[in-house]
Amino acid sequence: MKTERRLHRFGAVLVSIFVLAHLANHLAALGGIAAHLRFMETARLVYRQPVVESLLLSGVVLQASSGLRLLVSGWKRRQGWLAWLQAGSGAYLALFLLIHVSAVLAGRTLLGLDTNVHFAAAGLQAWPYSLFFVPYYVLAVLAVFVHLGCALARRAGPAPRKRAAAVGVPLCVGAVVSVLVVAALMGRLIPYAVPQEYRNTFGAQADLRP
Ligand code: HEM
Repeated sequence: MKTERRLHRFGAVLVSIFVLAHLANHLAALGGIAAHLRFMETARLVYRQPVVESLLLSGVVLQASSGLRLLVSGWKRRQGWLAWLQAGSGAYLALFLLIHVSAVLAGRTLLGLDTNVHFAAAGLQAWPYSLFFVPYYVLAVLAVFVHLGCALARRAGPAPRKRAAAVGVPLCVGAVVSVLVVAALMGRLIPYAVPQEYRNTFGAQADLRP
């Protein structure tokens, strides 16, 4: 299990660097969709390099698979809120990553779409699909911060107050970030309507919510 844990930590560093930049990219939407697109265009110069992207996608697979193995192998020994919160947030992230990355790759290869912000926002703006996509994205962003907070709490020592703060602070930051990103992409904080080409991925009858 030690090797599994080491692999999981190694993958975490790789994936976290991308994820934090990725979330900063989505926060750029607060300055308008043009700002989001410009940010992504620049970031892609790095993460769309074949070597970097292969490393990132391998990191995602490593992270999700080692996490799931740790989740199952420690099931009976796991005790206390911190261990279960870490396991639960990690399990959600593994499921989210599987769906999210497959959708992005399918959008690029099968639908021939540029998987930019419009690709993600289409689901958030198409009624009734937003009933799925709003909690799906909010929980994913929250899970990133909570999962990292749990890792910090384990290093904070056994004092309950220190542990609670190590999880509580990232949880609050994650809540603010997730609401801002999702509200911006829904067009609730900035004027933004997803182009028709992207709305069509949800069928002609998918409407923007009034
Ligand atoms: C509101 C939240 C999120 C939105 C709207 C979103 C949207 C997107 C979009 C549009 C892409 C395609 C990027 C491109 O084509 O260059 C993408 C890729 C990706 N996202 Fe997210 N994402 C969100 C959260 C997350 C989180 C929380 C994670 C990780 C835990 C994550 C991991 C990834 C990964 C690994 C890729 C693949 C990068 C690549 O190789 O192209 N995303 N996301």
